[in-house]
Amino acid sequence: MHEASKGATQQSQMRSDALSLSPASRAAIKNQRPRCIWLTGLSGAGKSTLANALEVRLHEQGLHTALLDGDNLRKGLCSDLGMDAGARRENVRRIAEVARLMVEAGLIVIVAAISPFRADRDAARRFFAKGAFVEVYVSTPFDVCAQRDPKGLYREALAGRIKDFTGLDSPYEPPLAAECEIDTSEVGLAQACEHMIALAQK
Ligand code: ADX
Repeated sequence: MHEASKGATQQSQMRSDALSLSPASRAAIKNQRPRCIWLTGLSGAGKSTLANALEVRLHEQGLHTALLDGDNLRKGLCSDLGMDAGARRENVRRIAEVARLMVEAGLIVIVAAISPFRADRDAARRFFAKGAFVEVYVSTPFDVCAQRDPKGLYREALAGRIKDFTGLDSPYEPPLAAECEIDTSEVGLAQACEHMIALAQK
């Protein structure tokens, strides 16, 4: 276990329950059902595009959202982490902790992160009440992602210049029971958003 994970787990267990305001009361004044919509999938699968489009649509409906994108978080909160398995586990744990705090504050939180390991996503799910964690598997196949290669990372990884690359020399474990699956090489953005919005409001 990453050193930071140990301390954080202990801290989580020490949380006080003696606070006057509950997550439910915070959510009530927003008139929305807070939840975490967690997009997982390969680099270049379309997670950020989907997350962004979903957030815009929810916002247009007057819902209060937040977007946690792995790429952005790795420039700040997670800038000390690499791409080996332990670092990815810690990355996902931190994202899940932040998402939980935001959901407790009453927000609809959208996460876009490769989050390659099933156990880590399942651990994230356990942070939330039943029904408040919606896993969206962005299942765009490796070959399509590699062909899109929006950041040129696949070319570098296939040439052996990037190590621990997801889908190549670092594993991706697909969800076994995601609430929703979207292959962006088969489904358009509008249709994908409709599908996710239905889940976000259920
Ligand atoms: S995660 O695996 O820890 O969840 P995260 O979603 O935060 O990953 O960040 C992934 C992003 O880092 C990718 O979208 C890509 O831009 C970049 N990246 C850099 N190195 C790698 C790598 N070895 N494997 C996958 N993505 C990488």
